[in-house]
Amino acid sequence: MTDAPIRVGLIGLGRSGWHLHAAGLAELDQYSIVAAADPDPERRAEAEARFGCAGYAEPGELLADGRVELVVVATPSHTHVPLGVAALDAGKHVVVEKPLAQSTAEVDTLIAAANRAGRVATCFQNNRFEPSFLAVREIIASGRLGELILIRRSVHRYTRRSDWQTVRRYGGGELPNTASHFLDQLLLLVDDGPLELFADLRHTISAGDAEDHVKLVMKPKTGPLLDLESSSAIATPQSGWLIAGSTGGLTATDESLHLTWYDPDTAEEVELHEGTPPGRSYLSGDTIGWQQETRRFDPGVAERTALYYQHLARTLRGGADLHVTLQSVRRQIEVIERARRQTGLL
Ligand SMILES: NC(=O)c1ccc[n+]([C@@H]2O[C@H](COP(=O)([O-])OP(=O)(O)OC[C@H]3O[C@@H](n4cnc5c(N)ncnc54)[C@H](O)[C@@H]3O)[C@@H](O)[C@H]2O)c1
Repeated sequence: MTDAPIRVGLIGLGRSGWHLHAAGLAELDQYSIVAAADPDPERRAEAEARFGCAGYAEPGELLADGRVELVVVATPSHTHVPLGVAALDAGKHVVVEKPLAQSTAEVDTLIAAANRAGRVATCFQNNRFEPSFLAVREIIASGRLGELILIRRSVHRYTRRSDWQTVRRYGGGELPNTASHFLDQLLLLVDDGPLELFADLRHTISAGDAEDHVKLVMKPKTGPLLDLESSSAIATPQSGWLIAGSTGGLTATDESLHLTWYDPDTAEEVELHEGTPPGRSYLSGDTIGWQQETRRFDPGVAERTALYYQHLARTLRGGADLHVTLQSVRRQIEVIERARRQTGLL
């Protein structure tokens, strides 16, 4: 075991590669960026100047650099698995940006490559560290909401995108690009059993041929109904979380959460009256000792990147369990694939 910084080779210096990974890794003593690959010479020069690292035009050159221990794949989505497998075959550990893969078959190919190489492979599901999600998980585990009935996750905005993320052959689309973060969160809140799935995917206001509006309703055998709305075509946004439970509920945004609940031991039993209600009343004079809690969050994304890479350093240097296993992301890719197939968008 060594405390030496983990030597990173970064493939792809775009919005994610530069603003999330390069910027985040630069803040952490446990990592050192020793190489970067991108076909764009200006981006390579920027990385060379900022990190004193080697710059390569081709990923293959970076993979042949013996100093690189960990490869971060932050390229367009359809290239994630081919580049991930190449990195593992070159004996490197690998972080693959989300969406992990284009299909479950691709996930299995990557898992097999990691097993063959005996190296760590993980996916950059940074929103597993999103403050509202961590708070929701903790509140559900506390039991204050009682038996869960419904978890609705909404990500609404009105944006007419025109980049490669709107094109299916590059792995674009609202579902793999944005909804995948929130689908990943929802699936971690229910057990592993089978899910019934209703999907409505629409291509509405963006360029390209991929969906920019996603509605998924998932019903596990037991547990709450999961309702996901992730859309670039909703001009009247609603709050990011709505959870209904038998003894309370919560709503939350990226910035705050409001929880309301009661202790069922303090409430009287509800008695059934089957006859005509006296005085034409609704018999709903139930008094409940509601309790309230409000939390505020710092929605910053930088913190999520730091937490993700700190966990990974503990795995790579300290042998700790991997926080985001490929297996734990596989179900998310399976739901994306099913939704796309159901709606003819595969
Ligand atoms: N986890 C997150 O929060 C998050 C945020 C943004 C993007 N992403 C993901 O990151 C990936 C990249 O998205 P982006 O928005 O940064 O894209 P982008 O278009 O901004 O950047 C992609 C970069 O990769 C380079 N590139 C393309 N093909 C390459 C190859 N074969 N080898 C090396 N470099 C190559 C391009 O020149 C460009 O610099 C996508 O899969 C996206 O879904 C994740």
